[in-house]
Amino acid sequence: MSDIDEYYMVVLRLVKEAGSVVREKINTPKDAMTKSCEVDLVTEWDQKVEKLLIDGISSKFPDHKFIGEEGSSLGNTVELTDAPTWIIDPIDGTMNFVHSLPHTCISIALVINKVTEIGVVYNPILEQFFTARRGQGAFLNGAPISVSGEKELRKALVMMEMGTSRDPEKMKVVLENANNLTPQVHGIRALGSAALNMCMVALGGADVSFEFGIHAWDVAAGDIIVREAGGVCIDPAGGPFDLMSRRVLCASTMELAQELAAILIQYYPERD
Ligand code: IPD
Repeated sequence: MSDIDEYYMVVLRLVKEAGSVVREKINTPKDAMTKSCEVDLVTEWDQKVEKLLIDGISSKFPDHKFIGEEGSSLGNTVELTDAPTWIIDPIDGTMNFVHSLPHTCISIALVINKVTEIGVVYNPILEQFFTARRGQGAFLNGAPISVSGEKELRKALVMMEMGTSRDPEKMKVVLENANNLTPQVHGIRALGSAALNMCMVALGGADVSFEFGIHAWDVAAGDIIVREAGGVCIDPAGGPFDLMSRRVLCASTMELAQELAAILIQYYPERD
């Protein structure tokens, strides 16, 4: 068994365990606290799930590093080195979790030498377990998945989000993009979880997904899942994807990705 096989087995077990917590708590009342603004929420369960994952991985692999959403919001440094680093969003779609909307997930990726080796996105409410390993394909509940192959924007179903910032400049860009895109595409959808939006592209249920202002933990796992499903992940202006840039565009094909990138109004948040 390779080292990565071992990391993979450990993370699968821990993510299932974390999923039980999310499933058990989703329909209970929760006290949500705010982070960067009134709509950027965190609950005690985000913090507990992140701790469960970090403690479980650290006990097996003490030299591994972590970039976690909740640790980062408490001031832990966000630094991606060449060391094996787990990038964790314990509950992606926290707003949905708070409202008991069943589109919420655990998102975790392992990056070694700045190359993503493992991605897992688990929605324990709808039992959607997305997995990918570098070079080995992408899977939903163990069955292989692949992107739609759509190449034309006019036939595309697009995932996009309002995001969790109410900065007027950011809102303006989001609304202008929604306004411009609506008449040019089949439809626009938002699940309220960047990771699940990306998994819908991997699954072939949507054709393209983009967002400005996400963080590395929202997209690290989705990136490898989309690419292993045969899709692409780029910067929304058309260049290479940069995990720490807080910008993402993933699509079923490069043609579609570049067609959308060429017409998007751009927004450049502060980097992770
Ligand atoms: C958020 C969700 C949301 C996206 C935001 C993210 P969180 O993550 O993915 O869909 O629009 O940009 O911050 O806060 O629920 O982990």
